[in-house]
Amino acid sequence: MADLLVRPRRLRFNPVVRDLVAEARLDARAFVMPHFVLRNPVAAEEIDAMPEIRREGIDRLSATVEADLKLGIRAVLLFGVPGDDEPKHPDGRSSYADDAITPRAVAALKKRFGNDLVVITDVCLCAYTDTGHCGVIEHGRVANDPSLEHLARQAVAHAAAGADIVAPSDMMDGRVLAIRQALDGAGLVDTPIMSYSCKYSSGYYGPFREAAHSAPQFGDRRSYQMDARNRREALLEAELDVEEGADILMVKPGLAYLDVLRDIKENFTQPVAVYNVSGEYSMVKAAAARGWIDERTVTMENLHAFRRAGADIVITYHARKALAEGWL
Ligand code: PBG
Ligand code: ZN
Repeated sequence: MADLLVRPRRLRFNPVVRDLVAEARLDARAFVMPHFVLRNPVAAEEIDAMPEIRREGIDRLSATVEADLKLGIRAVLLFGVPGDDEPKHPDGRSSYADDAITPRAVAALKKRFGNDLVVITDVCLCAYTDTGHCGVIEHGRVANDPSLEHLARQAVAHAAAGADIVAPSDMMDGRVLAIRQALDGAGLVDTPIMSYSCKYSSGYYGPFREAAHSAPQFGDRRSYQMDARNRREALLEAELDVEEGADILMVKPGLAYLDVLRDIKENFTQPVAVYNVSGEYSMVKAAAARGWIDERTVTMENLHAFRRAGADIVITYHARKALAEGWL
């Protein structure tokens, strides 16, 4: 077989050569670490289905973020988690009240870390509505247009508190435009919107709903989140968001939607984020805990898959461990 001219194995003969020719690379600067924020500043709670991830009050969170910054994690995505004793309303108004959790956390983090840290906030109603839905209910259904005002108010509250980027995850039609107009009206013209543009209705959000106490009290989210069977529809969703003023597009979940991630990357010029969601994280952790898979190998394989498929930004619960253990 001496006449075999092309031998791909020539470039695989040792780790340094493999690193030299690797196409997809990971970089801590592309990571966003999600956080669940509690009202009590010193509280810290384990999350059963998400090993090594905690809900934390702002004092604890500040310490965690400081340690993460030393590892190179320079962006966070915040989810406010109201306590069981806090009132929830049909319209989620507590999300933009004077004492709302997320704006307080934003202000504290920005005060402490300034421009060293990019603070992104999830904008949605589900953690604050008594129904657990991402919008307002009318006639037994999640009503689109009446939800927009509340989402917009929440986004303004976050941005006014100093959020660097707001990230609407509700999937109401027209929410990017409503938020853009509200931000501009409040003089917050420079606050970017990272839209959860292509957010599928997914069983992979299970652990998150436990973590954020945001499970719907009836029905499911299929009337507003995307249907997993659809690929072209993702282009429509992204196109609408771009027309409405989205600055960054997102695909969520990640692993089961790598084709969509690639499509969005190829068809748009905006930066593309992928959300490696809770269930994807928990599956790796659970199987690794049983010794069925190797955590490092599988985690890095997944994270590289996102970059290979086209993600500029990777939102992942794995960020801290991957960096702390030197997996990159
Ligand atoms: C809230 C929201 C969800 C996630 C992010 N924002 C849950 C949902 O839509 O039910 C999921 C994140 C994860 O699973 O890690 N709208
Ligand atoms: Zn929601």
